[in-house]
Amino acid sequence: MKILVVGSGGREHALAWKIRQSPRVTGVFCAPGNGGTRRVAENIAIPDIDIPALADFAAREHIGLTVVGPEVPLTLGIVDEFESRGLPIFGPSKKAAELEGSKIFAKMFLDRHRIPTGRFKAAYTPEEARAVVASEPFGYPLVVKADGLAAGKGVLICRSKAEAEEAVRAIMVEREFGAAGQAVLFEEFLRGQEVSFIVISDGVHALPLVTTMDHKAVFDGGGGPNTGGMGTISPSPAVSKKTIGEVMAGIIQPTITRMREEQRPFKGALYAGLMMTAEGPKVLEFNCRFGDPETQPQMLRLQSDLVEILAAAVAGDVLAREVEWTRGAAGCLILASGGYPGPYEKGKIIQGLEEAERLPGIVLFHAGTKFENGRYVTSGGRVLGVGAADRTLAGAMTRIYRAAGLIRFDGMHYRRDIGKAGAGSPVPKGE
Ligand code: AMP
Ligand code: GLY
Repeated sequence: MKILVVGSGGREHALAWKIRQSPRVTGVFCAPGNGGTRRVAENIAIPDIDIPALADFAAREHIGLTVVGPEVPLTLGIVDEFESRGLPIFGPSKKAAELEGSKIFAKMFLDRHRIPTGRFKAAYTPEEARAVVASEPFGYPLVVKADGLAAGKGVLICRSKAEAEEAVRAIMVEREFGAAGQAVLFEEFLRGQEVSFIVISDGVHALPLVTTMDHKAVFDGGGGPNTGGMGTISPSPAVSKKTIGEVMAGIIQPTITRMREEQRPFKGALYAGLMMTAEGPKVLEFNCRFGDPETQPQMLRLQSDLVEILAAAVAGDVLAREVEWTRGAAGCLILASGGYPGPYEKGKIIQGLEEAERLPGIVLFHAGTKFENGRYVTSGGRVLGVGAADRTLAGAMTRIYRAAGLIRFDGMHYRRDIGKAGAGSPVPKGE
């Protein structure tokens, strides 16, 4: 079977890397891919949002399964288009992807079905938003979010009324997050450990993947603005077996069931961003896709054939097979461009990749890289994910940091505390 992976990040490199290991697979393509995917797949120069061109390619090449990485093509309806043309694809429909596409839709859905989440209020004009801020609905810190896709960056944690007013101005007036600024969501600030809880669903059942903990803030200890994720470990130290059962029964299964009842059956990877609060797990947000970089340690730990799992989900029976994972731990550390998550320069030559990759157990997942004139250069904010699996988390992280120390590019920065206690929770400024 031939497989097409849509996207160009570290997540897509990890998916293509794992898919390539399947004995069922005769060819892997990645559209558009990156400097790393070209080593495990054939890169195809079609942008991930050019849905008609992707569908034409899949039809022409007789692709047996298309796997979509990023949220944008999903929210644009890539799955609907492929399915209407009879092309097998793994991912949620446009209507199901709204769980991520609109944070307000997701919050109202959770509220309507009494699935645990924090308190919230929505506003659709700057005046309405200012009135909400003036009413000081949930005290401080107050979380202010742009309602739409903002690559993990449209969330502002405000410590005062002045900061909340400024956030409203940035989102709704300055439109710093583009069209995502048409509406704004206010949320009570939830405290606890954050967990990325990701399942694969066939629309009816859900298969939980091994748990992960992301590190969203750019600086050590949770400081600075949020990013798409600076590093991930698996398993999450905040989730016991018992909690997995509770999350499946109290959050995941009701979400899958209610989405089906609302005529939005969710097939694909469902990512619940959870906060482990003193009152139990609560949903911070949903993503309609695999995590990035959560996928990297998950693929390092997955022992079963990913293609069989994805094909079973598409066929409607994701629980058909036992799935095996390594018992130990895995991690992925992101090496980012200078300035990320703000503006950054591209085209910096990356050195030390071969030395790093020669270290035992290290797998490099490329994200913002390009292969140009025989060299790898930076082409995005998150440049590389350094991954390793080991018997223990400490063992995996030691390997990872040793490898990261061998890689260099102008402006490179990364967190030094991935996998250390307390590193995963967001810390409001000043605390
Ligand atoms: P989201 O894109 O909605 O997941 O938000 C991005 C990040 O902001 C989350 O992963 C959390 O670290 C933080 N965050 C979002 N909402 C809240 C909240 N209500 N309370 C505390 N932290 C939050
Ligand atoms: N790492 C966070 C995300 O995938 O949204």
